[in-house]
Amino acid sequence: MAQLELALEHIDAQLRAYIEELKEWVRMPSISAGAQEDCCEALARAADFAVAQCEGIGLRARKVQVSPDTNPLVVACSASFAAGRPTVLIYGHYDVQGVDNPRSAWTNDPFGAAERDGYLLGRGASDNKGPCFAHLKAAQALHATGGLPVNLVMLIEGEEECGSRALSQFIAGGGLDEFGPIRGVVISDTSMYGPDRPSLTLGLRGILFFQMTVHGPKQDVHSGLFGGTIHNPNHLLVRALAALHDVEGRVRVPGFYDQVQPLSRREKTFYDALEVDEAAYCRNLGVKGLTGEPGYSLLERRWTRPTLAINHLSGGSPRTVIPARAAAVISCRLVPDQQPEPIETALQQYLRDQLPAGTEVEFGNSHHSPAYHLDPDHPLVPRALQAIRTGFGLEPLLTREGGSIPIVTQLHQRTGAPVLLVGLGQITDNWHGPDEHFNLRDFHRGIRTSAALLCALAEV
Ligand code: BES
Ligand code: ZN
Repeated sequence: MAQLELALEHIDAQLRAYIEELKEWVRMPSISAGAQEDCCEALARAADFAVAQCEGIGLRARKVQVSPDTNPLVVACSASFAAGRPTVLIYGHYDVQGVDNPRSAWTNDPFGAAERDGYLLGRGASDNKGPCFAHLKAAQALHATGGLPVNLVMLIEGEEECGSRALSQFIAGGGLDEFGPIRGVVISDTSMYGPDRPSLTLGLRGILFFQMTVHGPKQDVHSGLFGGTIHNPNHLLVRALAALHDVEGRVRVPGFYDQVQPLSRREKTFYDALEVDEAAYCRNLGVKGLTGEPGYSLLERRWTRPTLAINHLSGGSPRTVIPARAAAVISCRLVPDQQPEPIETALQQYLRDQLPAGTEVEFGNSHHSPAYHLDPDHPLVPRALQAIRTGFGLEPLLTREGGSIPIVTQLHQRTGAPVLLVGLGQITDNWHGPDEHFNLRDFHRGIRTSAALLCALAEV
C-alpha cells in the first residue's frame, strides 16, 4: 500500500485521540492581543505543548525567545535533512484573541474545550489551534507510517493576533536560512468558502493598524465651567474621522487607491462564478442590508478592495466633562500592491490636516504588513487542489480572503516559496468573537488534506 493510504488509515483510526489532545491545547488561555500578566504562563504552556508535539514526530524543536518582551516562537525541523528531498515549511499560531467581547456573550467556558454536536467549542479552537494541530497530526501520521516524505520545518508563533513582531525579527535576522531552500509554505489560518466547500486561498489582504490620540486639557474638566472656551478632543477626533470616507464609502485620503492593482479577468471569472447568498450573509451577521464601494460585488469588496475602518473609540466619561483626551483605533485592509508605509504617512497627515492648528495629536501602537497574492498559474496550485480533493473527497474552489496574516508576505519574500493557504475554518466560526467553534469533521478532513499535501510536495 502506498504510504499516503497507510497514513490516511492511521488518521481515521486515531481521530478520537487527536481530538482529546487538541482539547488540552484549547484549554490553555494563551491570549496575546491585549494580554494580561496571567496570560504569560498560559502562552508559555501553549508553546511547550507545541514543542512536545513536534518532538513526538521526531522533530528537533525549540522555543525561541527573540526578545524579553515578546512571546516565544516554536521552531522545529526534521532531525536530519535528507538531500534531494524538498523542504516544506508549515506555519501556525498558538496565541488567541481575548474573550472580553463581551465575556458575558459567551454561552460556554471559552477555555473549557467542550465538544457539542460535532464541534469543538472554545477560544482558539478554529483560530488557529485546531487547524494548526491538523498539520501536526498529519505529520505524526506520516512519521508513524514510514516517515515524513519531506524535510519539515514547523513554525508556530505566539503573536499573530498582535502583529507578529518577534517572528518578523526572527525571519529578518536570517532565522530560516539554516533550513536551505523551501519548496512550499503551508498555512491553515484562513477559512473554507463554506460548509463542505473547501478552498485554496490565492490572496490575503494586508493590514495597517494604529491608534490616534487627540489631547486637550491636562485632565477631564467640568463642561459647565469650561465648555465653549476650549477645544473638546472628542469633537476634534470625530470631525477628523468623519472626513475619512465620502458618502458612498470611498476612502478620501489622497493616494489611497493609487497602487491598487485591478483584479485580473481570470480571477474575476473565478469569483464571479461563486454563489453568494446575500440574505444568509446578512442573517448570519444580524444586519438588515449591505453597503460598500460602488461598482464591486460582495466578494470583490471583501477580498480585493482596500478598506479603512475605525475599530474603537474612546474619550471622556458619561458625565458632563470636556475630556483630557480622545482616542481611536484605526486600521486599513490593504490589497496587492499597496505599500503600507506611504499609506500610513499619507493617512496620518490627512488626519492632522483635519485638526485646528496647534492641536496635540499622537499616533502609536502601529504595525503593518502588505497583502499576499499567489499566481493561480503557479505549478503547486494543482497539487494543492489535488490534496484537498483527496482529503475532503470534494471539489475545491479558488478564493481570496479579506483578513490578514501579518507574516505571510515576509515568509514568501524571504523563502521565495509560494504560500499555500488551505483554510479549515468557516467564516461562521466566530473568530475573535464569543462562542468560537471548530467543526471536527473539517479537522479530520484537514488532517487528511495535510498528509496528502505533504506527499504531493515530496513528489515535484
Ligand atoms: N486567522 C486570521 C486571519 C484571517 C482572517 C484570514 C480572516 C482570513 C480571513 C488571523 O488570526 C487574524 O485574525 N489576523 C488578524 C491580524 C491582525 C490583528 C494583525 C486580522 O486579520 O485582523
Ligand atoms: Zn488566526
